[in-house]
Amino acid sequence: MQSLNEIRSAFLGYFEKNDHLIIPSAPLVPQNDPTLLFVNAGMVPFKNYFTGAETPPSPRAASSQKSVRAGGKHNDLDNVGYTARHHTFFEMLGNFSFGDYFKAGAIEHAWTLLTKEFKIPAEKLCVTVYHTDDEAAELWKKIAGLPDEKIIRIATNDNFWSMGDTGPCGPCSEIFYDHGPHIAGGPPGSPDEDGDRFVEIWNLVFMQFEQFADGTRRDLPKPQIDTGMGLERIAAVLQGVHDNYDIDLFRTLIAASKELVGGGSNGPSHRVIADHL
Ligand code: GLY
Repeated sequence: MQSLNEIRSAFLGYFEKNDHLIIPSAPLVPQNDPTLLFVNAGMVPFKNYFTGAETPPSPRAASSQKSVRAGGKHNDLDNVGYTARHHTFFEMLGNFSFGDYFKAGAIEHAWTLLTKEFKIPAEKLCVTVYHTDDEAAELWKKIAGLPDEKIIRIATNDNFWSMGDTGPCGPCSEIFYDHGPHIAGGPPGSPDEDGDRFVEIWNLVFMQFEQFADGTRRDLPKPQIDTGMGLERIAAVLQGVHDNYDIDLFRTLIAASKELVGGGSNGPSHRVIADHL
């Protein structure tokens, strides 16, 4: 079994081998960005590279960014402890292209890493694209050989990602892993999509715009790539468990929590404590 630490290293190693500069996680409190209280995604420390306000140290980068989602636009607080897949505090694995590769490169890298390096069977995966994004749908067909029924078009904001009320944004394509029919839930876009069966493991954002507070949007200087994969979610897949709280890291934390505060059940309280730790 690959440990969480080994999975993080394998992700970063793959992108380093493919000419990405590995950037250490930034602090959780954003530096020089008053629009957010906490970093909520891997791209936040790179916001100025996307908008063109600063020059990136390399046209390609990758990181494992500590993130908090406990308020604001991306708020998972109420789900924590009750679903198999939500956290307030987690690590987001990401690869970034600052005006270098775009949709084809992002899809190619994601598919190669998941199916060749991590050896996830292709039949366990399906993807979503923004409903008008014919280009991304075609690329999934060409690069991954996915049939039409596994390329699901979504018209909502689930497939149009933005950092917050302002900042870089664009259509996105999400990759889902099917944990199997024994788990309740349906594919993305279905009435049961909120169940834990089909879990979004990786989001590929095709950054094209900058959103301003007055509601206007401008094109970014160049189209760019921002991706985000929850380390704890991919660890659950690769460790053969369906629940994030059953991965090596959380088993250890939950055991420690039970020992210190007592209580034998695997109920939400120990999961919440482990999440916050
Ligand atoms: N920035 C991509 C994501 O948070 O899903």
